[in-house]
Amino acid sequence: MNILVIGSGGREHALCWKIKQNPKVKKLYCAPGNGGIAQLAECVSIGAEDIEGLLKFALSKKIDLTVVGPEASLVKGIVDVFVQKGLKIFGPSQEAAQLEGSKVYTKEFLHRRNIPTAVYKIFASAFEALEFLDKAQFPLVVKADGIAAGKGVYVCQDLKEAQSAIDDIIVKKIFGAAGDKVVIEECLQGQEASVLAICDGKHFFVLPSAQDHKRIFDDDLGPNTGGMGSYSPAPVVTAKVLDTVIARIIEPSVRGMYQEGIPFKGVLYAGLMLTNEGPFVLEFNTRFGDPETQSILPRLQSDLVEIMLAACDGRLNELKVRWDPRACVCVVITSGGYPGSYKSGFEITGLSEINDSDTIVFHAGTKNDGGTLVTAGGRVLGVTSLDKTLEAAIAKAYEAVGKINFEHMFFRRDIGQKALKIKV
Ligand code: AMP
Ligand code: GLY
Repeated sequence: MNILVIGSGGREHALCWKIKQNPKVKKLYCAPGNGGIAQLAECVSIGAEDIEGLLKFALSKKIDLTVVGPEASLVKGIVDVFVQKGLKIFGPSQEAAQLEGSKVYTKEFLHRRNIPTAVYKIFASAFEALEFLDKAQFPLVVKADGIAAGKGVYVCQDLKEAQSAIDDIIVKKIFGAAGDKVVIEECLQGQEASVLAICDGKHFFVLPSAQDHKRIFDDDLGPNTGGMGSYSPAPVVTAKVLDTVIARIIEPSVRGMYQEGIPFKGVLYAGLMLTNEGPFVLEFNTRFGDPETQSILPRLQSDLVEIMLAACDGRLNELKVRWDPRACVCVVITSGGYPGSYKSGFEITGLSEINDSDTIVFHAGTKNDGGTLVTAGGRVLGVTSLDKTLEAAIAKAYEAVGKINFEHMFFRRDIGQKALKIKV
């Protein structure tokens, strides 16, 4: 079997690492990949959004399964283009990817299907949005409709902040056409959690819960990032919470999309607020999370390729999926300065000193520079450890982090700590 993974982050390294465990995989390609992925797969320099280039490559190399990491190419319709040419590809169609690509689409879908989400209004003009805000109660949340690299959500404490959000999104158009419409919604209170499901259009199964850490500094301070670390399972998602999430959110969403003629295939990632009235949907993503995937896939005992093929073929109900009960923690190491500006090209040392079979170092922004591994991005590595308890997994991951070195390296020291504080 020949497999192509699209993307270049830690998530894609984790996908390649797991895919490679299937003995039927003859050739694994990754476009464009990174320095760590290059040790497992043949990296090809085609951009993740170059759909024509990727299609040509997949046809010429007789790719049996393509796995899409990032959302942009899904929203651009890569799945439809590949399927039309008879190629198997794991991910949602362009229309189904609207669940990530458009907050307006998602809010209207959730409302229509009676799935719990914050009360909202949609505006396409700054004038009407500002008029609404004059009479609104605070706090509230303003969201750009389209994809805005994770920056299009403003939690506003007062009128001034909300007016400035409308100005950014609709007037200044800092996210371009993603800001043609805005959603203004009620601000929910509670603990946040994510539940991911693998879907085949009709059937689904949920992955073990995971949490990421979005802010750059310890104690969730500082600006948002792509994710500074993750752990699985997330104790806040108890068996009871999970049952409710499945019954009130995941199942009705998969059924709703199916009934509306847009069957959802791929990963449905529900970002949730666990409120006093139960779980509410904050947003959907239509792909694996990064860095959640790094702490979920090491726990998967079943074969990922078989799962993804079954999802493509609509036969997930035939599978039994097994999970490692141990906890998994991923500590992300970044280039100092990230998520603002940072320098790259520093040599990374110490990786060969990590000799623990339950620790895996997933690469994100790394590249091989004439035989030397150097930094090449904001998030550089995801040091991931499994152990019997979350506490032990945290200790193991940080022990490995301590062996790694590069100039200006940075990491949070409290990954997983919030899970240890939760009493359930
Ligand atoms: P989203 O991209 O929609 O998940 O939003 C990004 C972050 O904004 C979430 O992880 C929450 O922290 C926050 N957020 C989004 N919507 C709401 C809401 N309705 N109430 C409170 N916080 C929210
Ligand atoms: N970890 C958040 C995301 O993948 O969008």
